[in-house]
Amino acid sequence: MAVITKNIEEALTILNSGNLIGIPTETVYGLAADALNEKAVKQIFKVKNRPSNNPLILHFPTLEAAVPYIKNPPPEIQVLAKQFWPGPLTLLLEKSDLVPEIITAGSKRVAIRVPDQPLTLQLLEKYKKPLAAPSANPSGYISPTTPFHVEKQLGNKIPLILDGGPCSKGIESTILGWNENKVPVVYRLGNITPEKIGECIGTTPLVLNKSEKKLEAPGMLSKHYAPKTPTLVTNNIEAVSKQHPDKNLGIIRCMPGNTTHKNYTEFILSETGNIDEIARNLYAKMHEMDELNLDLILIESMPEEGVGIAINDRLRRASTYR
Ligand code: TXA
Ligand code: MG
Repeated sequence: MAVITKNIEEALTILNSGNLIGIPTETVYGLAADALNEKAVKQIFKVKNRPSNNPLILHFPTLEAAVPYIKNPPPEIQVLAKQFWPGPLTLLLEKSDLVPEIITAGSKRVAIRVPDQPLTLQLLEKYKKPLAAPSANPSGYISPTTPFHVEKQLGNKIPLILDGGPCSKGIESTILGWNENKVPVVYRLGNITPEKIGECIGTTPLVLNKSEKKLEAPGMLSKHYAPKTPTLVTNNIEAVSKQHPDKNLGIIRCMPGNTTHKNYTEFILSETGNIDEIARNLYAKMHEMDELNLDLILIESMPEEGVGIAINDRLRRASTYR
């Protein structure tokens, strides 16, 4: 069992001793280690059962704190940081020699972000070194959005989880980088949409989705974020539930709908169809459904617009069938 606490000093002591902790961010909980302690970083891969070729995001309290760890940043970084940091945007930038190879899995680029979570920002300010933190879930499983999700999945492997309550955004950060022609590219969709980035920098970034041959970020792996229960994503819950008349179904709807199945448990992500509320509740409801030993989980997809596109991207990766 891990200690779940708001005590930053305890968290700092554990980080200083080279151990891992769970940290809250506005997106999902992270599994954090001192990014400059190679032994501690190795533990992240071990605890998550994560392939060593999948690089880690570095977390900083401010852009200024990140500057020594990057080289030749594109000019847009200033306006992006001003508008979106602290917040759910990760930037892929050329790394400086201070960033250990193990963090970037040998790549010349490092992913950095400033999370919008008061406790974690205080922790980062006090620690004075970057924290490497992937999502705090076993590789491939649903990301945690409460300390209890972290405890359930990794509690027997880490001593402490910093308790920031439920995450305010609920899906992983948008990842933005620049290709060899200096064109901005979104490598992972998230709460900050390509359109919002476009409004900020004057060019709407390309979106590299999984149909592209070369996977630039292993988080783009098509099977990811998945419950253990077979899961199917659909825009027509009623029609699909009719194909499984004898199954005990879990139904996750974005907004209220009319279910006529005979044996089901249903969760509504937002009574009013509010997209921020849907994103915030999605993983928590997937975790909860996955505990109920159901035959099949049906999740309603979102209209393909705005943050709905990012949500659908996660749902497709969570889906057992496609
Ligand atoms: O919202 C988030 O970004 C959360 C919170 C904890 O900050 N973190 C997170 O980390 O989602 P993780 O490791 O679960 O996903 C990070 C993604 C992975 O797909 C990884 O491959 C990609 O970012 N990534 C990290 N560093 C990279 C690099 N140097 N080059 C390419 N992709 C990178
Ligand atoms: Mg992850």
